[in-house]
Amino acid sequence: MVVASAPQPLAAAQASGPCLVRLPSSPVSIHIGGAPGDVAERVLLPGDPLRAEWIAQNYLDDVTCYTRTRNMLGFTGSYGGRRISVQGTGMGQPSLGIYVHELVTGFGAQTLIRVGSCGALVPKVAIRDVVIAMSACTDSSMNQLRFEGVDFAPTADFGLLRACVEQAERAGISFHVGPIAAWDSFYSDRPELLKRLSEYGVLAVEMETAELYTVAAKHGVRALTVCTASDSLVTGEKTSAEERERTFSAMVELALATSAQV
Ligand code: HPA
Repeated sequence: MVVASAPQPLAAAQASGPCLVRLPSSPVSIHIGGAPGDVAERVLLPGDPLRAEWIAQNYLDDVTCYTRTRNMLGFTGSYGGRRISVQGTGMGQPSLGIYVHELVTGFGAQTLIRVGSCGALVPKVAIRDVVIAMSACTDSSMNQLRFEGVDFAPTADFGLLRACVEQAERAGISFHVGPIAAWDSFYSDRPELLKRLSEYGVLAVEMETAELYTVAAKHGVRALTVCTASDSLVTGEKTSAEERERTFSAMVELALATSAQV
């Protein structure tokens, strides 16, 4: 059951203007409410904050909501007797980068598992299949600016990847392991670039993982992306809303089992 944390009182209106109030803020983070200790070392990262709430409601015990800032919900509870958090990240690398940076530097998160959807880029990835991302290519300028001419290779944590593969085999899930593309545009003007990547074995496209793996590497923490193919750029097929819910559950169970093993 989800128990929302007690609302914090709004601070007095700022002296600078009649209509400005200072919203409840965190002592450690700009975009995530809550205090140090409110977030577990292990964190699941769905893009959609309502998916975070759904995971907390359906899978965690003794849940508290530690942040509602910008409606980007975050919850902490327990799974199999171990503390775990679920934090929405929003869509795209700049948004995810903010939440991951603050979870790690402000709240001490150590193990980050993104759970999301992706579009299949190759025929062997069928819709509903799970893709476990070993590495992430990207068209984002974030790493071009960070590394200035050097191509950094955003890579999953091997221990997490291995644990996830073992759990997927145990669960009998249809899954693939390999590189994915973390694209800055959902509606791209350059579909030929994703086609080129698919010719080099890139399995699927989503919008977050290069930044997740890069920020995790910067801070020496573990990260992994697990995603379900909600559609195929090869066949044009799409999953129904009911299928997305069911496949999302299987993926969340896989991510939780992985987090419990490491
Ligand atoms: N791009 C294309 N298709 C998708 C994506 C994406 O980022 N995510 C899920 N299906």
